[in-house]
Amino acid sequence: MAITENNTWNTALYDKKHDFVFKYGEYLVQLLTPKEGERILDVGCGTGYLTNLIAASGAMVTGMDNSIDMIAKARSEYPHLPFRLASVTDFKFEEPFDALFSNAVLHWVTEKEQAIQSMYNNLKPGGRLVLEMGGKGNVQMIINALKKALVNHGYRSNAAREIWYFPSLSEYTGLLEKQGFRVTYAAHYNRETELKDTQHGIKDWVQMFGGAFLEGVEAAAKDNILEEVEETLRQTQFRNQKWYADYKRLRVVAIKEN
Ligand code: BEZ
Repeated sequence: MAITENNTWNTALYDKKHDFVFKYGEYLVQLLTPKEGERILDVGCGTGYLTNLIAASGAMVTGMDNSIDMIAKARSEYPHLPFRLASVTDFKFEEPFDALFSNAVLHWVTEKEQAIQSMYNNLKPGGRLVLEMGGKGNVQMIINALKKALVNHGYRSNAAREIWYFPSLSEYTGLLEKQGFRVTYAAHYNRETELKDTQHGIKDWVQMFGGAFLEGVEAAAKDNILEEVEETLRQTQFRNQKWYADYKRLRVVAIKEN
């Protein structure tokens, strides 16, 4: 799960204020329907919450993430489970899996073809890939507000950064089909996501997930930019004393054809 340019994570803050990332993933585990004895890989497992939930079914699950911080936290939280440090774009296990599961990770992977190929190569024929990621238009209100504030403060090159990959349904399912997957389910839906901190929800979100946009920005300017983002978004994203992020999700189930 590559999150910042140097791929470091504040795992305590992630678990405390942004646990909705994996709490929403509980439904995706139901869609996976893990079965006892199946070999399953949790791609981009983060701090391991969903890996552990999958393990509760009796499946033999491994968590994989490319963040040292995330893997260290997952190992300390769930010492009974195996976790491996590896990148989704280039990983190889000794044995292929019955299923691959990935929640809220693949939008960080701009080398999408490599990721899809690696996932395909690590699945058994007939195996399934169950994923959810940001889809086209995801957090667009936040991105627009942030880019506008960066430009207003003279940080045009930061505003030009593209750190996420939010494909349309047809684009991503097309890439999966090109690789040899058969897509059996796909949806692109809105999920307004309530943020935990009723006061600083949007600022917290930008700092946790959009840190790459703010790299190299002076501290004082950063505060002003975050303030401006908050004010711009107040009209549309602050309702009933709560902040909401304008998430749009892509959910897909695909089978590796024999
Ligand atoms: C998402 O889960 O959609 C997401 C999370 C962080 C940054 C961008 C998107």
